[in-house]
Amino acid sequence: MEYQNIIVETKDKVGVITLNRPKALNALNDQLMDELGFALKSFDQDEAIACIVLTGSEKAFAAGADIGAMANYTYMDAYKDDYITRNWEQIRQIRKPVIAAVAGYALGGGCELAMMCDFIIAAENAKFGQPEIKLGTLPGAGGTQRLPRAISKSKAMDMCLTARMMDAVEAERAGLVSRIVPLDKLMEETMAAATTIAAMSLPIVLMIKDSVNRAFETTLAEGVNFERRLFHSSFATEDQKEGMKAFMEKRPANFVNK
Ligand code: HXC
Repeated sequence: MEYQNIIVETKDKVGVITLNRPKALNALNDQLMDELGFALKSFDQDEAIACIVLTGSEKAFAAGADIGAMANYTYMDAYKDDYITRNWEQIRQIRKPVIAAVAGYALGGGCELAMMCDFIIAAENAKFGQPEIKLGTLPGAGGTQRLPRAISKSKAMDMCLTARMMDAVEAERAGLVSRIVPLDKLMEETMAAATTIAAMSLPIVLMIKDSVNRAFETTLAEGVNFERRLFHSSFATEDQKEGMKAFMEKRPANFVNK
C-alpha cells in the first residue's frame, strides 16, 4: 500500500508509524485509518519486528476524527457503513505491543486511539480530551468505556461531560499515561522502551499482553486462572530455559523467540 497520511519506518526490531496529516492536526479520516490498519497488520506479521510505536507530530498526536468528513453523515450512512468499527478496531487485533508516543493534542478519536495502544508515553505538552459533546455527539471509539477503566468514573465523566482537556501531569497522576518525558526526548525515550521490549522473548511478550488485556474483559478469578495457564505454558518455551539459566550464570539472556 502506498501511504499518504502516515509515515512508516523500521528501526532495528521496532516498527514506527507516524500520523502525518499536519495541516489538519492529524485528524483521523477513513483513508488514514485504513492506512494505519494496513501498516499495523504488516508489522504484526513481519517476523523482523517485535514492537510497534505509534506517534504524531509535536503539535498533535491526533485532534480527533475528521469533523469535516463526518459533518454531513446521516444516521443511515453511519449505521450502514459501520462508521468507526469498520476500520478503527483493527489496532485491537494486533498481537505485538503498540506504544503510543503522544505529544500535543490527543482529542476525541485521537485520545481513543491512544487508549487502544498498550501504553502511552506522554511528552510534557500532551493534552488529552473527549470534546465530542461540544460537537453534539459522543465518543464513538471506546472513550466512554476505556476512560473510566483508565482514570476512574469521576474523571471520565468530568472529561466527557465538560470537554475539558487534561494535561500530561494530570494524565499521569490519573494513570492514563505511564510516564511523562520532555518533548525533545519523546521519541528517544519511547524507542528505548520499545527496544527493551524487543529484546525480550516475543512469545512471552505476546502472552503478557494477552494476559494484561484479559484483566479488562473478565472476572478476577477467571483472569488469574488465564494468567496461570499462560504461566504454565511459558515453561514449554526455550526462552524460559534460557532466561533462568542466564540468570543463574549471571549473564544476559539471549532469547530465540521459541
Ligand atoms: C478536522 C481538524 C480537526 C478535526 C483540527 N482540524 N482538528 N479538522 N477534524 N478533528 C483542523 C482545523 O480545522 C484547522 O484547519 C487545522 O486543523 C488547525 O486547527 P486550528 O483549530 O486552527 O488549531 P488550534 O487553534 O491550534 O486549535 C487546536 C485544537 C482545535 C484545539 C485541537 O483544532 C480543535 O478543537 N479541534 C477539534 C477537536 C475535536 O473536537 N476533536 C473531536 C472530534 S470528534 P484549517 O483548514 O482551518 O487550517 C471525534 C469523534 C470520535 O473525534 C468518534 C470516534 C472516532
